[in-house]
Amino acid sequence: MTVRKKTAIFISGRGSNMRSLIEAARDTEFPASIELVLANNITAPGIAAARDAGVKSAGIVGSSFPDRLSFDKVLDESLRSAAIEIVCLAGYMQVLTPWFVGRWLGRLINIHPSLLPAYKGLHTHRRALEDGVRIHGCTTHFVTPELDSGPIIMQAAIDVGVSENETSLAARVLEQEHLIYPRTLALVASGAARLKEGRCVLEGHSSAGSALVSPTI
Ligand code: GRF
Repeated sequence: MTVRKKTAIFISGRGSNMRSLIEAARDTEFPASIELVLANNITAPGIAAARDAGVKSAGIVGSSFPDRLSFDKVLDESLRSAAIEIVCLAGYMQVLTPWFVGRWLGRLINIHPSLLPAYKGLHTHRRALEDGVRIHGCTTHFVTPELDSGPIIMQAAIDVGVSENETSLAARVLEQEHLIYPRTLALVASGAARLKEGRCVLEGHSSAGSALVSPTI
């Protein structure tokens, strides 16, 4: 029988990555089970989507806490009382305190819509188009206190089309996010990807030997 790691997802918005994780974890062979969804915003549409998918979910109102640390302590308590082992950030728009990150180091992962270390922060697709990059994509990584800077676990790259705009590029990258996030969670939950001495170690991984070239001539 597959040992399944109890997983929580933090969201702030629509939760499409959250849904891709919930979907993947419906397979009883998947090495993680999604037990809890928490949002830092009670109006996040993802809260209802999680509930509809049968996952316990809640929004926590940040303004009722004196500071970020008190808020993160409540998050931590909720995780511990649900015996959570892994936390996935999926469009969670609040920076976590170093205290929280330290407590969950190696068990806290994020997805970011760019090929890190390029385009940390917001408006990644707009900035990539402004720079005229030919290849763009998304990255999953272990979370460290510095924003979007933790060890990379998985990336997906797409070519940037000639008539691409921010909306079309975001949609194409999002499609890839929905593929790599469940795979990333499976790697971390099974122990195949782990944080060791500040790097992501991948067990049993060999290069596929392929390259994405754009434009192809
Ligand atoms: C995604 O693009 C994710 O990479 C970024 O925020 C967006 C969240 O989208 N961190 P969704 O809520 O998962 O649909």
